[in-house]
Amino acid sequence: MAKDKTAFFCRECGAKSAVWIGRCPQCGAWNSYEQEVIHRSGSGQLKNLSTPKAVTMLMSNIECSAEQRIDLKDEELNRVLGGGLVLGSLVLIGGEPGIGKSTLLLQVALNCKDKRVLYVSGEESASQIKMRAERINKGGGNCYVLTETCVENIIERATEVQPQIIIIDSIQTMTTSDIDSSAGSISQIRESAARLGTYAKQSACPIIIVGHITKDGNLAGPKILEHMVDTVLQFEGERNYGYRIVRSVKNRFGSTEELGIYEMQSYGLRQVSNPSEILMSSSTENLSGTAIAATMEGNRPLFIETQALVANSYYSSAQKNATGFDLRRLSMLLAVLEKRVGVKIGGKDVFLNIVGGLKVSDPAIDLAVVAGLISSGEDVAINRRHCFAAEVGLSGEVRSVVRLEQRINEAAKLGFERIYIAKQGSKNPIAKRSDIEVISLGEIDQLLPYILS
Ligand code: TYD
Ligand code: MG
Repeated sequence: MAKDKTAFFCRECGAKSAVWIGRCPQCGAWNSYEQEVIHRSGSGQLKNLSTPKAVTMLMSNIECSAEQRIDLKDEELNRVLGGGLVLGSLVLIGGEPGIGKSTLLLQVALNCKDKRVLYVSGEESASQIKMRAERINKGGGNCYVLTETCVENIIERATEVQPQIIIIDSIQTMTTSDIDSSAGSISQIRESAARLGTYAKQSACPIIIVGHITKDGNLAGPKILEHMVDTVLQFEGERNYGYRIVRSVKNRFGSTEELGIYEMQSYGLRQVSNPSEILMSSSTENLSGTAIAATMEGNRPLFIETQALVANSYYSSAQKNATGFDLRRLSMLLAVLEKRVGVKIGGKDVFLNIVGGLKVSDPAIDLAVVAGLISSGEDVAINRRHCFAAEVGLSGEVRSVVRLEQRINEAAKLGFERIYIAKQGSKNPIAKRSDIEVISLGEIDQLLPYILS
């Protein structure tokens, strides 16, 4: 019997080596090489799909019809993809188990009634998929189901059915018959994705691939998978909250700043078109420690409630804890408050919670956090009809943030009566408005009289 041929692959970047190496010469990762059986059938050549020979073309002669995109009948997903699914593109959607990837994609498959969709599952049986479809209650549409894990067979079926969208759930269960290593191994994932990518480009049929995420939050399989696809979407959410967020991490055909928000319901995922509704608690009472930030995620304003609790500490070392906010940034803001405003928080326990558990990257949330901390420390409530949009610097200065006009407009639209922003330069001052009071601050200590009055 012929001996199995093996090779070592880097878990991080997918580099291949004949022997085990402690440190990957390509990406520098330590102890990342794993042995895999890669015995290749036939002549040892990969059976390549017959790719037509490419010809060189003069740039000015290349015809460019406007990028053709498929409307997925899902506004959130369309926006995250940059306006729909581009023909011939390969989209990877990653997320933890149970977050709702299969549900989301099955919903897409059933919603696109005017498109032939091939839903390939390597994880569930056809009847399990049907059960889920009935739960979502969208009818069969034009959706074909295939339970198969061999990529060659999938491509063969696809050539028969000629689908307009293919969904692969998940890449970790796919294998190509040319490689003997088990499903989910680095070489299988890479080779399967490469085959699917070639098919997508040749047939112009977009393929959406599900990918699992490892414990440390990376897409399982080599990083190289992310390089091979056109778009990488991350599906995330806290288990304890009902809503889910789709974020684009890489997008060749659009911005990576957009967010799609859903809520998991008993009948599937509901699109949340007004996210502020879930990001602010329903309470109408003014409570100390609570401040509302006017943040932006991509082009969309999000009004987020921050809750701070400053309490006397009964332990030798005071605790600091933040949910949905960077702990180091919280420590920085506390130090600024102590040094520049003279608020004594040092020996106290500080807790910060972003309502809804959303992780916010927009620095405009700083001022709301600072206001919440002052409000809780002094035990005076901030009016719930006031909101904040500014970054706070190390010397206590209040800094301006991007798209201020848009934030102010949105705040006025949502019925806020006052918004705190950074002092504007004389170049482009914010026009005085009748619908909302705009308070410009230069330093954070100027905030005190407003909060404490
Ligand atoms: P699923 O799509 O199977 O997750 P993934 O493919 O990412 O592993 O989602 C499973 C979870 O979603 C499961 O815990 C049940 C829940 N769920 C609902 O709450 N409502 C529904 O209508 C469906 C279909 C699932
Ligand atoms: Mg699944």
